[in-house]
Amino acid sequence: MEKTLAIIKPDAMQAGNAFAILELITNHGFKIVRLAEKQLTAYQAEEFYAEHKGRPFLPELVTFMTSGPVVVVVLEKDNAILGWRDLMGATDPAQAHEGTVRKLFGTSKGNNATHGSDSQASAAREIAFFFDRA
Ligand code: CMP
Repeated sequence: MEKTLAIIKPDAMQAGNAFAILELITNHGFKIVRLAEKQLTAYQAEEFYAEHKGRPFLPELVTFMTSGPVVVVVLEKDNAILGWRDLMGATDPAQAHEGTVRKLFGTSKGNNATHGSDSQASAAREIAFFFDRA
């Protein structure tokens, strides 16, 4: 079974969509093996998104990700990494397919409701970033 990291971002939390997103996740056969609410610091957000260092949108992303609490979740399923990215849909909600999390709950490329690991290496790093054991 593969594991991946999901984050329910501040926009989805603020809009009250956290449980609807978790329900969509479990309805698609993912097992939630860890779950925690966090308030990220700017330092943590910059570390988490280190691969985007130097990108023009990083300061905006850090401000957004620290603007309120997030829920971080470890999901388990066969092919969880690709499966969760498919269920999230495209980064830009305007490009996301009907029924995907970002189409349903995202409002812009920045405010796109959720995050998901993009590879096995990212999943391992991102899970370890938030959880001692998963
Ligand atoms: P996420 O999956 O969390 O990974 C990096 C995030 O950067 C991405 O989702 C988007 O929310 C954000 N992002 C990517 N491109 C842009 C952009 N052009 N403007 C603002 N945010 C962006």
